[in-house]
Amino acid sequence: MMEKKLWGGRFEASLEAWVEEFGASIRFDQKLAKFDIQGSIAHVTMLGQTGIIEQAEADTIKAGLEELLAEYETGQLEFDVTNEDIHMNMESLLTEKIGPVAGKLHTARSRNDQVATDMHLYLKDKLHEVIEKLANLRQVLVHLAEEHVETVMPGYTHLQHAQPISFGHHLMAYYQMFTRDSERFTFNIQHADMSPLGAAALAGTTFPIDRQLTSDLMGFAKPYSNSLDAVSDRDFILEFLSNSSILMMHASRLCEEIINWCSHEYQFVTLSDTFSTGSSIMPQKKNPDMAELIRGKSGRVVGNLVGLLTVMKALPLAYNKDLQEDKEGMFDTAETITVAIDILAGMLESMTVHKDRMAVSTEKDFSNATELADYLASKGMPFRQAHEVVGKLVLECTKAGHYLQDIPLERYQEVTDLIEEDIYQALQSRTAVERRTSLGGTGFESVQHQIQQATAELNPDK
Ligand code: ARG
Repeated sequence: MMEKKLWGGRFEASLEAWVEEFGASIRFDQKLAKFDIQGSIAHVTMLGQTGIIEQAEADTIKAGLEELLAEYETGQLEFDVTNEDIHMNMESLLTEKIGPVAGKLHTARSRNDQVATDMHLYLKDKLHEVIEKLANLRQVLVHLAEEHVETVMPGYTHLQHAQPISFGHHLMAYYQMFTRDSERFTFNIQHADMSPLGAAALAGTTFPIDRQLTSDLMGFAKPYSNSLDAVSDRDFILEFLSNSSILMMHASRLCEEIINWCSHEYQFVTLSDTFSTGSSIMPQKKNPDMAELIRGKSGRVVGNLVGLLTVMKALPLAYNKDLQEDKEGMFDTAETITVAIDILAGMLESMTVHKDRMAVSTEKDFSNATELADYLASKGMPFRQAHEVVGKLVLECTKAGHYLQDIPLERYQEVTDLIEEDIYQALQSRTAVERRTSLGGTGFESVQHQIQQATAELNPDK
């Protein structure tokens, strides 16, 4: 027996169940249900207002859609794989509810513009959520930085102690990264905020539709200008996946640092028990699993970007079923990043920072070597020569098993009479940090300034 499909008119035989299963998207595109109904309500309102269908018919369809929405929201709708995707499932549920008049809803519309519309509505909504969550994470970083303006820690290059810095400064570097992420997502809204509805299958329609009206009804900034582009553009999703990949790369870098910081070798921070896990065999373990998982999940987010770019790269215009592959990666990325941002914020907010450990680890090292070179340069020695002199002193110390601050003044003065008693003050890591007042430097004043700017950015109305 041939089962009746919405598109079944020209077919004599039906798909085998396993083939049908392969082509169906309802398992995952049901996430679009709410947006599919929203788009249909806008479409049918327009069909009624333009007289393309009778107003009474439009009203009946709209009422039916509203009932479906309420049923969806209370978990009462059941979808069926034989109806392939969310669009045909909705139409079939609507037909069950209001009868054959439901068939008028699809006038002057195709699933091609319909699915693109749903995706735009979904992503626009998600983008606002992501930006809000990022604002919270940025605020958490600023609060933490405020507490740690004067917390001195080693700054690294090549993962070797380089120069001491303020922990607040280190945190504010991440604030800047997440701010750029937020700006990228904000720009992304522009390309999500366009209505493809009315492009129909690919070429537009002969019906006197009003695309501006449907665009306005759905709250979009404007309709797409070209119908072929409208149904085949997935740039707004690629931008989202790309922006998310960059965001997760930043999150992963921070998590990598947190993982290092809570290792026995560093002991700079202790994560709260509420963000850590234990080991099933080693009773002493407290693992930074959540940070590791964010670092790991950055991989799948990048994978989703590469996946969709690969799907898109040779697609001829206009719609091709390949485009159905745009969904799972987008949903997965949206769900992954929204949780990851919250986890990261919670982890930072609840961790204990061991200021003393950080400070101590800048005291028994050579991260003050630049201070000595700068000291000599500021007294007139050419910096290159100062670099050479200090390099030799570092070598001498390494052999003697002590540090620059342990060299007696007499020895310093043998090397050069430019060095005086005040060198010991200059060699302290706190002094080294405090004095770096150049714009954007790690000096306490500079960090305070960054915090003030950030606070103004986060609270533009105050
Ligand atoms: N489920 C499809 C998708 O996600 C909807 C569009 C189907 N259009 C078509 N002509 N087969 O892309």
